[in-house]
Amino acid sequence: MQVKNKGVGIIGVGSYVPEKTLTNKDLESIVETSDEWIVSRTGIKERHIVAPGVATSDLAAYAAERALLDAGVSADEIDLIIVATATPDMLFPSTACLVQDKIKASKAAAFDLSAGCSGFAYGLVTGSQFIQTGLYNKILVIGAETLSTILDWNDRNTCVLFGDGAGAVVLGEVPAGYGILGIDLGADGSGGEFLKIPAGGSRLPATSESVSQRLHYLQMSGNDVFKFAVKVMGESAVKALDNSGLSSADVDCLIPHQANIRIIQSAAKRLKLPMEKVIVNVDKYGNTSAASIPIALNEALQDNKLKNDDVVVFVGFGAGLTWASCVIKWYKEDKTVV
Ligand code: ACO
Repeated sequence: MQVKNKGVGIIGVGSYVPEKTLTNKDLESIVETSDEWIVSRTGIKERHIVAPGVATSDLAAYAAERALLDAGVSADEIDLIIVATATPDMLFPSTACLVQDKIKASKAAAFDLSAGCSGFAYGLVTGSQFIQTGLYNKILVIGAETLSTILDWNDRNTCVLFGDGAGAVVLGEVPAGYGILGIDLGADGSGGEFLKIPAGGSRLPATSESVSQRLHYLQMSGNDVFKFAVKVMGESAVKALDNSGLSSADVDCLIPHQANIRIIQSAAKRLKLPMEKVIVNVDKYGNTSAASIPIALNEALQDNKLKNDDVVVFVGFGAGLTWASCVIKWYKEDKTVV
């Protein structure tokens, strides 16, 4: 879908990862795996993990405060908070409400969005509609996860892949012609079985039996998700570019969901983009699900890999199954106080 009318874009960016790192070497003493296997199959070298007692809203609030500072916007100017997460603090209240209280964004409405690793891009598109219609002016979109708390640390197929972290952006009006130009959102619920937490919801409420069977942990059919990701990443990015009236030749920077270096490379190949234009940090953080794109965006800005007038494409895929792409003509004023 092509986005018209006023410019709606990202006016502030922030991210936060917990201090503690878990290296592949550390994992060798937890499950039967090796640094060589993990690096060659995924590109991951280490990931950040929360300390006991730290929850998703804690990481989300830190990232949000940094994004507000970067935007030069105060918390009481925020109209809406959207938190994309698969690891909420609790089933309810929403993590967005907990963040609203933590950062004292007293006038903001707040809700969570569940679209797996596509959640951040889904959240951007959702939030931008409220500004496009004139209902709201400033919106916080946050991707935040504490995946370490839902991993089965006995399952080498999954526990080596994920990490914790949060990234946040402030959405607001930008000059016409800048901001979000085109998007592509999609879902294929028939693939829901490939990536899920079976117990703890209404289908299979938590019982001592479900816990002893480890059904409250993340389960994944890695190979099925891999095949889906390779297909959908390139297709979705191309659709969003088409909808923007652009082609892959116009792309200055690709920020893909960071799940696996081989999936990222195949998306770059499909778009005929050299890897120099692709932001990669999966080696340092693993798959941080909804947080991965905003964390990578923040790093791209810090490393001067993204500047005003560039065309940047976000593309994600995840549980659902879902996918989401967003094409942005970048414009952000530097509000950093020196
Ligand atoms: N260490 C050593 N060996 C392992 C490990 C490990 N950590 N994990 C699996 N293996 C073994 C398997 O048991 C298997 O052994 P077998 O052949 O004896 O049965 C072998 O390695 C090969 O397994 P494959 O599944 O074929 O390996 P593949 O090359 O497909 O890589 C991976 C697996 C990395 C999981 C890949 O499929 C992948 O990245 N899938 C996508 C995952 C993903 O992106 N998920 C996130 C979705 S986003 C969201 O919403 C959270």
